[in-house]
Amino acid sequence: MSTARPDTIGVGILGAGPVVQAIHLPTLARLSDRLTVTHIMDVAADVAESVAGRVGASSSTSLESLLADPNVEIVAICSPSQFHASQVIAAMRAGKRAVLCEKPFATTRDEAEEIAAVSAETGVPVIVGAMHTFDPAWTEARKAWGDLPDTAHTIRSSIVLPPNPRFEDRATEVVSRTPFPSPGEITPEVLGAMMSGGVLGLAIHDLPLVRSFLGGQEPVVTSAKRLDPFGYAITLRAGERIVELIAAMHSHWKPAWEFDVIADDQTLHIDFTPSYVHAGSGTARLHRSGEPTRVFGDADHNGYEGEWRALHAHLIQGTPIPARESLIDDLTLAVSIADQASAFVIQEAQR
Ligand SMILES: NC(=O)c1ccc[n+]([C@@H]2O[C@H](COP(=O)([O-])OP(=O)(O)OC[C@H]3O[C@@H](n4cnc5c(N)ncnc54)[C@H](O)[C@@H]3O)[C@@H](O)[C@H]2O)c1
Repeated sequence: MSTARPDTIGVGILGAGPVVQAIHLPTLARLSDRLTVTHIMDVAADVAESVAGRVGASSSTSLESLLADPNVEIVAICSPSQFHASQVIAAMRAGKRAVLCEKPFATTRDEAEEIAAVSAETGVPVIVGAMHTFDPAWTEARKAWGDLPDTAHTIRSSIVLPPNPRFEDRATEVVSRTPFPSPGEITPEVLGAMMSGGVLGLAIHDLPLVRSFLGGQEPVVTSAKRLDPFGYAITLRAGERIVELIAAMHSHWKPAWEFDVIADDQTLHIDFTPSYVHAGSGTARLHRSGEPTRVFGDADHNGYEGEWRALHAHLIQGTPIPARESLIDDLTLAVSIADQASAFVIQEAQR
């Protein structure tokens, strides 16, 4: 059995696929003064054993074994998305100190509400790995933007990724475990699933940021289009506000992950690091009429490390983490946009 180093908190990980191997293990290695990986579980025994061996952790193939391990204080849920909600709840009920769950932490509003209720009942905090929420460029720029009056009228998330199939697969997650469907295979239902997968797998990283500018208004999809071979262009209206969500993969473009907010009196532009990149935070530029441009970020870490730092600081110092209600609202927004965009393209295709 593997124990945590003195003065560190033991982490057990459920699912040891690419996100663990390429994101969480290198991140946790950089935070080895605070956190120790003590146990890795994967349903594939060879994967569990081999990945655990890299970090000197115990390995197992069952949820119950990991939860029974007293050296696991925090549970990180990195299994495929359909298992997240039940595993989050099992970890909280097992009396663990905290849960970090990869996005999306649930697939329906009901599941999200159940997680929030069990978290309130057990007192176990949950953090969702929507990494941009924890990027210092975003958190500092959002504070500087201010809340009242919130005059944002245009909000845009724009993601362009290179053609490297492995990179695409890892960045799109939900939809692209298998090669992109050929044009002949794209039935209306496949098209709908691609749109929904794009929103819940990729756009979801920026939807908490989008939501913070919506003033509580429900966005309605006004157009949705698949971009070839994979991508989406979705336009929404939330009251007077316009929201654009774009993701494109094209062999001629360099990677770029940008987020823009435009108001009459100020604009915000953020360049985030692409998926799987560990080197530093995004950079945010806030332009306000009559004032010098303010630049935030280029910090030494981005949201991948930010989410673990936030969870550790919450457990040790009680610093706040996103409220349970905000996790439900973020998930509800993502599911609503995924459903609307999917229905939109299916309807268009059937015309
Ligand atoms: N934050 C990010 O940038 C980012 C990037 C990629 C993936 N993700 C998320 O991480 C999660 C995992 O992604 P991945 O790319 O590693 O996925 P993956 O599906 O390729 O790998 C997941 C691993 O989980 C294992 N597994 C299957 N069923 C399991 C179960 N019931 N319990 C435990 N393990 C099980 C599989 O054997 C596999 O090794 C997904 O929810 C995805 O949305 C996030």
